[in-house]
Amino acid sequence: MHTLAGEAPCGAPRPIHLKRPLFLELKQLKQTRSTNPFRPGSGILPPLLAGRERETAIFEARVARTREGQPQHTALLGEWAIGKTTLLMHWRRLRQQAGDAVVLSMAYPQSSDEFLAGLVNAIDAELATDGPRNLEVELGLDIGVANARIRRRSRDPERELRAALRRLIEHHARDGRSVIVLLDDVDLLPMTGDVLLRLRACALELYAADLPLAFLVAASAGLFDGVRSAHEPLVRFFEPLSIGPLDPGDATRAIIGPVEETVVRFDSAVVAEIVELAGGRPYYLQKLGYFAFDAAVDGRVTRAEFAVAFERAFASVSQEIFAARWAGMSPIDRQVVAVVARSTEPRPSGAIEAEAHRLGVRPGAARLALRRLAARGHIDRVASGHRGRYAVRDRLFQRYLELQTCEP
Ligand SMILES: Nc1ncnc2c1ncn2[C@@H]1O[C@H](COP(=O)(O)OP(=O)(O)OP(=O)(O)O)[C@@H](O)[C@H]1O
Ligand SMILES: [Mg+2]
Repeated sequence: MHTLAGEAPCGAPRPIHLKRPLFLELKQLKQTRSTNPFRPGSGILPPLLAGRERETAIFEARVARTREGQPQHTALLGEWAIGKTTLLMHWRRLRQQAGDAVVLSMAYPQSSDEFLAGLVNAIDAELATDGPRNLEVELGLDIGVANARIRRRSRDPERELRAALRRLIEHHARDGRSVIVLLDDVDLLPMTGDVLLRLRACALELYAADLPLAFLVAASAGLFDGVRSAHEPLVRFFEPLSIGPLDPGDATRAIIGPVEETVVRFDSAVVAEIVELAGGRPYYLQKLGYFAFDAAVDGRVTRAEFAVAFERAFASVSQEIFAARWAGMSPIDRQVVAVVARSTEPRPSGAIEAEAHRLGVRPGAARLALRRLAARGHIDRVASGHRGRYAVRDRLFQRYLELQTCEP
């Protein structure tokens, strides 16, 4: 198995050095300056959008069916930082280039009425900006999203939403163009099920008037588990489309492509190590690529530079993501997640429960913790019949857990 850069045996956690050795700092001054192309973050378009051809083809086919009078709506589902917002922005651009009207709005922890009222604003803004676009200017989450935050008082936001959509669709249908409404992070709404049901009611009423439109909502993988009683009708209405990690070929392209545009070169062993450590997670690819690029010496990144870069990337992800995740876990969840993280291979829940029991956790409590941890995306559940098997496949998180639980 590939060794994790900087991996330390349990009992002797290696300190994470935030400061690079002085000789590296000095040598780096000599490197040819070139802007770092990688863009780790949330909702930031990557320098190269790798993979996602299958998902894009499915989305396009659904849009085509909608145009032909058979509307198909989508729930784009995937774990944190897997690239949902990026895909929404990519698809918005594709559809706008094809002449469609696209509204992209983002949910916040706000009431259903506030959310719907914000969406009315975003739709009106789209209607107001109809006309030739400068497609070279990609402002990321631009006016449609910004407007969605405006908290308008409205007596009946659902009725206003129907009216706004009708205006937009009628405006575009004349030229055979479609209307697509993309709604990101809908699971942040406290009443997600309620909002989805209201969107569905709105769409059904518009079909009755022969005014087709396509909704696409994006959320974490557990979206439909959270809406319980509304599950059945909603899952049939918003057809799930799941996105997962990139395959190794696409992940390699996501690293090599942007680097080739610069004067810097990554050794092939470094690219392979980044691809393996990231496990296809695009956020890790961007993060590791970013720190690797920054560590280049004389325009080159060898495994020696990458070892330093890895520590910096790991420290950054730990600070941004893992620390809050760990802080939010109950003591039992911590004990159970640590047991799961001891093996990279999925293990049956029975074996994990037995091990947790030796640490003083009752089997029933361990089972519940496993479910909770899997639902939150902290551990992976591999379905095998009734009882699942569990693992922490995320190499960076696994290392973080190892360091947490090794500490005296
Ligand atoms: N297909 C891809 N190829 C390369 N990089 C990507 C790809 N998709 C996403 N990224 C990068 O991964 C990071 C996370 O992407 P994004 O914010 O779209 O994920 P998300 O699923 O919306 O996350 P969140 O859980 O924060 O909503 C960003 O830095 C983005 O540039
Ligand atoms: Mg997002």
